[in-house]
Amino acid sequence: MKINDSLDLQPLPGATFGGLVRVSGAVDAAVEALEADPEPLLRAFYDCDGLLVLPNMHAITGRPDLLVRLSRLFGPEVEDYRRTLTERTMVHDTVSEIFIVANRPPVNRAPPARPEPPYTEDGSLPVQFPHRRGWHTDQSFRRPPPDISLFYAVVPTPKGQGQTLYADGIAAYDALSPAMKERVERLEGIHVLPGKGRSEQAVRAGETPEPLLPHQRPQRQPVVRVHPVTDKRALYLCEAGQMDWVEGPFVGMQPGPDGDGAALLYELMRHFTQPRFVHVQEWTAGDLVIYDNRSLIHAATWFDAEANGRVMWRTTVRGNPGDAYTGESRSWIPEAAAG
Ligand SMILES: [Fe+2]
Repeated sequence: MKINDSLDLQPLPGATFGGLVRVSGAVDAAVEALEADPEPLLRAFYDCDGLLVLPNMHAITGRPDLLVRLSRLFGPEVEDYRRTLTERTMVHDTVSEIFIVANRPPVNRAPPARPEPPYTEDGSLPVQFPHRRGWHTDQSFRRPPPDISLFYAVVPTPKGQGQTLYADGIAAYDALSPAMKERVERLEGIHVLPGKGRSEQAVRAGETPEPLLPHQRPQRQPVVRVHPVTDKRALYLCEAGQMDWVEGPFVGMQPGPDGDGAALLYELMRHFTQPRFVHVQEWTAGDLVIYDNRSLIHAATWFDAEANGRVMWRTTVRGNPGDAYTGESRSWIPEAAAG
């Protein structure tokens, strides 16, 4: 199906959601055409439940501004990482809207651990929680959280490792039993900045949580989010490192890693990450993935970091979180949080 004269859309192979978009001709000309009329691409994005894969976007590596221009099509604000207390080493030198994910200096971000066997029948690594960990939606420790991320492969790892797994929160919500839908309808999760001693592992290990500044405080988020564009309901939650296991994971439920809240979170995450709801993104240099954080969760997978240097670029788009956030000041801005 044609999106416009230079973009073609097909279903994403092997997935029950998402679209594969092929660009013909020069990438900068395609971006210009989209700036003149972004609607067909946005419609495709939402029709596919918020996941588009665009291969062969190599031009972005030499023209990072193209990534920012593409990001602007998706919302009113592309986040400037100089203004979000992000460490400068993780921000692109000249384009501060780009967050760098890399395992080499100066970023030095290590990959997640390799899951323990048993692996799946064909020898591939499993996707489902809790065998696979690290499922999250970007920056849910802030209110309002960002809407959409664009993730671009500058230097990916070989196939079979360093993937990104995406799980469809809309399909996962739809597949819940009526009783579970009722149970989670008004439930709120407590999300927190990772690395502050409030993760499942830290609490289990008996670590003392770090003191938090007002703008770092855990944030409540609805477990069922209503999408502001499509009105579809989606499951919205994270697991180990981005939920607060001291007071949460859920408001009004028994806290801690052995409480009723933890049991429910395990049940929901196991359901959410079933292979039938998951797309496994194997990265090739020049791939761009656009994903909706309001309705998808994702997880990075293990790779051999000794043998492989990996460099990915990410932008985040914000400004349309939905009615549940109307009129809120930004929780992560120190002055706003203190006020
Ligand atoms: Fe992420």
